[in-house]
Amino acid sequence: MEGIGGKKLVFAINGERFELSTVEPCTTLLEFLRTQTRFRSAKLSCGEGGCGACVVLLSKYDPVLDQVEDFTISSCLTLLCSLNGCSITTSEGLGNSKDGFHPIHQRFSGFHASQCGFCTPGMCMSLFSALCNSEKTPRPEPSPGFAKLTVSEAEKAIAGNLCRCTGYRPIADACKSFAADVDLEDLGLNCFWRKEENKDVSKLPFYSHRDGICTFPEFLKREIKNKTLLNSKEYSWYSPVSVEELQSLLGSEEADNGTRVKLIVGNTGMGYYKELEHYNKYIDLRHIPELSIIRRDSTGIDIGAAVSISNAIQALKKANKGIPGYEEAVFKKIADHMDKIASEYIRNTASLGGNLVMAQRNQFPSDIATVLLAAGAFVDIQIGTKRLELTLEEFLESPPFDSITILLSVRIPFWEQIRNVSSKTQSRLLFETYRAAPRPLGNALPYLNAAFLAQVSNYEDYDGVILESIQLAFGAYGTKHAIRARRVEEFLTGKLLSVDLLFDAIKLLRGIIVPDDHASHPAYRSSLAVGFLFDFLRPLVDSVGEIPNGGINGAINGFPIDAKVESNFDKLDNTMRPGLLSSAKQVVEVVRDYHPVGEPTTKAGAEIQASGEAVYVDDIPSTKDCLYGAFVYSTRPLARVKGITLKSSLIPDGVVGVITVKEIPKGGENVGARSMFGTEPLFADNFTQYAGQPIGFVVADTQKHANMAANCAVVEYGTENLEPPVLTVEEAVEKSSFFDIPPFLNPKPIGNFSKGMAEADHKILSAEIKLGSQYYFYMETQTALAVPDEDNCMVVYSSSQCPENAQIVIAKGLGIPHHNVRVITRRVGGGFGGKAIRSLPVATACALAAHKLRRPVRIYLDRKTDMIMAGGRHPMKVNYSVGFKSNGIITALHLDVLINAGISEDVSPVIPYNMMGPLKKYNWGALSVNMKVCKTNHSSKSAMRAPGEVQASYIAEAVIEHVASTLSMEVDSVRVKNLHTFESLKVFYEGGSGEAVEYTLPSVMDRLVSSCNFHQRFEVIRQFNCCNKWKKRGISRVPIVHEVMVRPTPGKVSLLNDGSVVVEVGGIELGQGLWTKVKQMAAFALSQVLLDRSSNLLERVRVIQADTLSLVQGGFTAGSTTSESSCEAVRLCCKALVERLIPLKERLQENMGTVSWDMLILQAHLQSVNLSASAFYVPDLTSAQYLNYGAAVSEVEIDLLTGATMILRTDIIYDCGQSLNPAVDLGQIEGAFVQGIGFFMLEEYLTNSDGLVVSDGTWTYKIPTIDTIPKQFNVEIWNSGHHQRRVLSSKASGEPPLLLAVSVHCATRAAIKEARKELLAWNGSNASHSTFQLEVPATMPVVKKLCGLDNVERYLQSLLSNQQKLSLS
Ligand SMILES: Cc1cc2nc3c(=O)[nH]c(=O)nc-3n(C[C@H](O)[C@H](O)[C@H](O)COP(=O)(O)OP(=O)(O)OC[C@H]3O[C@@H](n4cnc5c(N)ncnc54)[C@H](O)[C@@H]3O)c2cc1C
Ligand code: FES
Ligand code: FES
Repeated sequence: MEGIGGKKLVFAINGERFELSTVEPCTTLLEFLRTQTRFRSAKLSCGEGGCGACVVLLSKYDPVLDQVEDFTISSCLTLLCSLNGCSITTSEGLGNSKDGFHPIHQRFSGFHASQCGFCTPGMCMSLFSALCNSEKTPRPEPSPGFAKLTVSEAEKAIAGNLCRCTGYRPIADACKSFAADVDLEDLGLNCFWRKEENKDVSKLPFYSHRDGICTFPEFLKREIKNKTLLNSKEYSWYSPVSVEELQSLLGSEEADNGTRVKLIVGNTGMGYYKELEHYNKYIDLRHIPELSIIRRDSTGIDIGAAVSISNAIQALKKANKGIPGYEEAVFKKIADHMDKIASEYIRNTASLGGNLVMAQRNQFPSDIATVLLAAGAFVDIQIGTKRLELTLEEFLESPPFDSITILLSVRIPFWEQIRNVSSKTQSRLLFETYRAAPRPLGNALPYLNAAFLAQVSNYEDYDGVILESIQLAFGAYGTKHAIRARRVEEFLTGKLLSVDLLFDAIKLLRGIIVPDDHASHPAYRSSLAVGFLFDFLRPLVDSVGEIPNGGINGAINGFPIDAKVESNFDKLDNTMRPGLLSSAKQVVEVVRDYHPVGEPTTKAGAEIQASGEAVYVDDIPSTKDCLYGAFVYSTRPLARVKGITLKSSLIPDGVVGVITVKEIPKGGENVGARSMFGTEPLFADNFTQYAGQPIGFVVADTQKHANMAANCAVVEYGTENLEPPVLTVEEAVEKSSFFDIPPFLNPKPIGNFSKGMAEADHKILSAEIKLGSQYYFYMETQTALAVPDEDNCMVVYSSSQCPENAQIVIAKGLGIPHHNVRVITRRVGGGFGGKAIRSLPVATACALAAHKLRRPVRIYLDRKTDMIMAGGRHPMKVNYSVGFKSNGIITALHLDVLINAGISEDVSPVIPYNMMGPLKKYNWGALSVNMKVCKTNHSSKSAMRAPGEVQASYIAEAVIEHVASTLSMEVDSVRVKNLHTFESLKVFYEGGSGEAVEYTLPSVMDRLVSSCNFHQRFEVIRQFNCCNKWKKRGISRVPIVHEVMVRPTPGKVSLLNDGSVVVEVGGIELGQGLWTKVKQMAAFALSQVLLDRSSNLLERVRVIQADTLSLVQGGFTAGSTTSESSCEAVRLCCKALVERLIPLKERLQENMGTVSWDMLILQAHLQSVNLSASAFYVPDLTSAQYLNYGAAVSEVEIDLLTGATMILRTDIIYDCGQSLNPAVDLGQIEGAFVQGIGFFMLEEYLTNSDGLVVSDGTWTYKIPTIDTIPKQFNVEIWNSGHHQRRVLSSKASGEPPLLLAVSVHCATRAAIKEARKELLAWNGSNASHSTFQLEVPATMPVVKKLCGLDNVERYLQSLLSNQQKLSLS
């Protein structure tokens, strides 16, 4: 530990004073909070600024103005030393179970906005900051209970926070409930009012900023005023207060002696570069006034390099205010563009200068560099004692500056509008910025960005617009730095704009915007440049009527558009973008037959999840002797492991050793995971078999040191005399590298395929589909804590969906009996299947290390390692042949499916079986399948929410789409024609089809058509597509059938002396609301003893953590049915208890009249009634399997210039039987659907040619955010009545709704079809359609490619040839 030079670092956390005299300067705030304080609400999830789980509020006090500034920061990137004199507020500082929860916590809970809860504290802080800051605005006082916040600000407040569970809609509602302009009618399902009741703010937990939180404690203000706080500026953390002081620090002897110096402002660059190097000196630039100035004069605005992006945005907007003229547009547009950089909690500390230095020095794909380049900005830099002013272009083009060159400030000139030179001329200044990124609101690097500034004139003598001058900047497309397209600028300058000029300019531009070799999607990125330039100049081209509507931003802002040009713009729906969730509706029916079962009660523990008090594995405090582990994994697919060494120069302090296969104790086995199909080794032995395989486990005194040590591990590989690895399913076929599928899981044919084909009028033979993988992206990565116990026992806290399996594997690994291993799981911060088998090696490695070292050992995987080791969803290659009649009826389908299972069985042999359920949703006439589970040298693929099912549902739709396209029929009619009758359903599903009344799918489909006005909207979309060239819309209705299986599950219910109830179940609380439903069931079932609904036992029930020695046979929490089976097990326990209590109750009743619950239980204790009952629910084999039905309609709009897809609206109807808890089921439906959107539209889980995962963090892996979900999101939970053989008539909701997201993909396909029609017309083809496959995920590059990477050129060409024809005629 290095000191900070005799000076103390003083700050406050949640009002408590902290004073540190020694601290490692590279310590982040998050590290400090989580390891040195009792405040654990800020969570680590990505560690790179991309998720928001670690968000806290930072408050600074200005003693001169006596003002407090509050803003959010990412605590994972903020360095502790930069917080001298600051105050931090975390979610538990807002409120907690002891002092009372904050209304934010209460409303998050009441709007059902927390599932696993791992994202919730960060969400709460983002909202809290927005509330605080809205109160500082001069807006009128809102009505009591509301804040000065607007609805749009409320939604935007959490735009940078990721949630993998909820689908965001309920979170948006919780946030909006504070907004002054909210219409309470618009808020979704909540526990504060019933649908039919009056919506009144007084029913919401009361919010008033006046009795709000003090974010900056008085004691700290006093210390600041008394100047008792000094900036620590000695030894390793320096805060110079002038450029001169900074220079002398940099020029000091130490710097010359190779001392490593790091200049710091917000330290957010760490999120991207993740340097693990050690620096000897940190110099904080934020205290140098010159670097923090914002100065405006008549020529422009100067912004100090250390000014945060948020403050720069404010300054640009302010500089803009009240100044007439067109310079307004430039500053405002720059500010608007900057608003899309990262997320608010990053922009609040990220500096303008840091961004530009990263662009200059490290080729960072900066937005700021591009927009400022177009705006003709200058920079001031200091090199040694020399001060230079450079144009931004010179700055970017200079060789990378060394680490001690200082960027002082940036100057953005005002751009005055050219005054009219004569009455015959009208001149204007145009400025526009663009970025194409997977997320419209930011929090995603762009594929390309651009900014254009032009001065144009209309001369009366000419009919058209002359480009007097133009500046075209492009960046972030896989280039060293942003560039000016000078040749295009020169070409255009002084010319009269016309279609052929635009066409020639675009051709020229194509040759300039050429991404570097390593860049992804090079052709797409070039096409974006073309699209943006076209969008910019198009409205100016005098070719009215021939360059019609569309447009990326819909208007040339700041440019008074004349009537002719105006008609060229798409005026439709501009109000909607770049909007967020505009509306949502939830239809649920509450059935009170089994009260409180069926009530939409709030999630058990939601408030403590919001306040951050809920304890996840990594929140369990470490004992002093605790050690931490990190995996060393292979980067090669198949190689001999010759040895592991740690690069000695980089080894951090505190490393204890490396655990490898050699440390497996005598009697133990090298086993890291098991399923019913086989086991998997914990560590590579002599050979590594896939990239990502654990080779060793480094153990150190802190998690950071363990991670650093694992990073500096060097593995020596040898590949001599080894066969090449099997990396594709094709290679697996060649080498017959397959896993066996047990006969009972191998799909059987239905009907006679040859006969079906013979009956067909048309055939499609051997069409191919490929499907990629998907990563779980649970917000809590894999984690475990192993604590050695007496007598060779081990207690392991594991974030696991199957603790029982962890117990077995650990016992095997250590060679000890199962009863020596106790695995405890309280809650899991998101699982989605990834914490089932894949959690086992993590727990086992910790246990092995703890066993060997006789000390507690824990691990919390960093996001990158987690992504590399996780495996994820199964990629597939599918080949299909289908026969069908001319009327669209399908007669036969055959599928050859190659499933990439990776290196070990895991649960892969079950995938073929899983696939059959959703695949059979249509009556294919005859169906035959040939599935192979391929063993490849990849990480083992595992179950991910709807494993196999989502792929199968997609395959079914792809076939239907293909048939419809071949027949030129409306795809919806082909779907309807091929839906099952109950008779055909029985044939396809044999025992699983249930009764005829239970087959609700046809009614669900019909109901959806009318509830969402499907046919009318279809017509509107047709019209929209006719009159829009650059936007197309599509709509699609898709049914799902999803087969689930109820598995045996244990339960135990105990009644304590005071009448409180303790429940244990086999199922794990993963956020899916299992505990909530179990609590409701226990309350219902126990209340039978009193037959008195007023007893309200719900609050008396506590469900406790899973403990493998307390409740055995816990099994897996998977397959959507664990909640219902756990409920049933609990019902059985309660039934037994009720039977024991009834005689006593009757006796007491006779003696005393009425009997209360408390009295009954107390008497039962006194009379030695056994008040604990356990049960093992084994479902009846004839009804264990059942079908779930639902349907969705989605409507999308695609942008033909960028390939962006916006989901305009989704309507879902899902049959939940009689929901056990409609709020919980609604959360499952919406959350699963949004996760499905991720699979179908966004998430690319890519590997390199060795199979090593390269999408390894939030920078490259994009899960849905609030701006990528449907703008209108309507869900109806259909209560399909009494289902005798289900648990209190309920049905599953966890996985099936994920399949419905295929509707978004199909709608996108429909929109692309329209785009391709137009493309064909531009090519002069009369063809009305073309058949194509739309890849999954349908990302922007994929969509754009199908719409034509050269669609702009083709369009212009067609215009030109039309013009030629016209002039000839
Ligand atoms: C999650 C996330 C998403 C992002 N998304 C985007 C995006 O979409 N578009 C975009 O353009 N940017 C994006 N950024 C980048 C962000 O803008 C930069 O990280 C930030 O501006 C850097 O500023 P900082 O103050 O944190 O720099 P620091 O991290 O403190 O410093 C960065 C580097 O610059 C050096 N440095 C800083 N200031 C100076 C100076 N005045 N003189 C000399 N050297 C200096 C430091 O020594 C260091 O090497 C994103 C960042 C994150 C974390
Ligand atoms: S953990 Fe800090 S932003 Fe993700
Ligand atoms: S509740 Fe948001 S990540 Fe689980």
